[in-house]
Amino acid sequence: MSDRASHWEKVYTTKAEDEVSWFQENPMTSLRLIQDAGASPDSRIIDIGGGASRLVDALQEQGFRAVTVLDISASALEAAKTRLGAAGAKVEWIVADVTTWTPAKSYDIWHDRAAFHFLTELADRDAYIDRLRSVVGPGGQVIIGTFALDGPEKCSGLPVQRYDSRSLAEVLGPAFELADDRAEAHRTPWGSIQHFQFSRFRRV
Ligand SMILES: C[S@@+](CC[C@H](N)C(=O)[O-])C[C@H]1O[C@@H](n2cnc3c(N)ncnc32)[C@H](O)[C@@H]1O
Repeated sequence: MSDRASHWEKVYTTKAEDEVSWFQENPMTSLRLIQDAGASPDSRIIDIGGGASRLVDALQEQGFRAVTVLDISASALEAAKTRLGAAGAKVEWIVADVTTWTPAKSYDIWHDRAAFHFLTELADRDAYIDRLRSVVGPGGQVIIGTFALDGPEKCSGLPVQRYDSRSLAEVLGPAFELADDRAEAHRTPWGSIQHFQFSRFRRV
């Protein structure tokens, strides 16, 4: 197992759902942006680095029928799947490092909250963007949430790259046109505030 995978396995096997800073009872900003992306029940939606997030629960409740969750931690996905019960069987679960993943199909909506910002090396960002470009075709939508420029410098003890929508657009390149951006002040389970930025792009 890579160092990266063992880091996340340790997190998800030693901490409860609400003992991690990124826990959200209700992923409202993500849901709003997915709606604004024009999602329909058959849209193929992938949550990159979805971990044990409740986004997949909300998408199931809202009737989305083609949801995939990818994460480097098998334990994180197992926790989400167990929580979902029967609904979990309708979701596609992929255990993979997004930077080395071999995608098997395309997606209409790519969502990532707080995974991309861990890619502080250029080669990893390039690998991520290669996969993004290969699975989201023209007209597809990309939603990426990261720590904002005034957000924390670390998450889960790891350094992160902070962005605003402009710098994120520059990194993604001209194949992705910025369609929307919003700031979110995330309240951690212990009450501190972390500044996030969420950007939505349209694949050109
Ligand atoms: C801060 S957590 C956010 C989890 C989830 N998106 C949420 O909002 O609750 C970051 C997640 O990204 C996953 N992750 C980190 N690096 C990854 C990589 N290279 N490939 C796939 N998943 C990764 C971690 O396992 C973890 O679940």
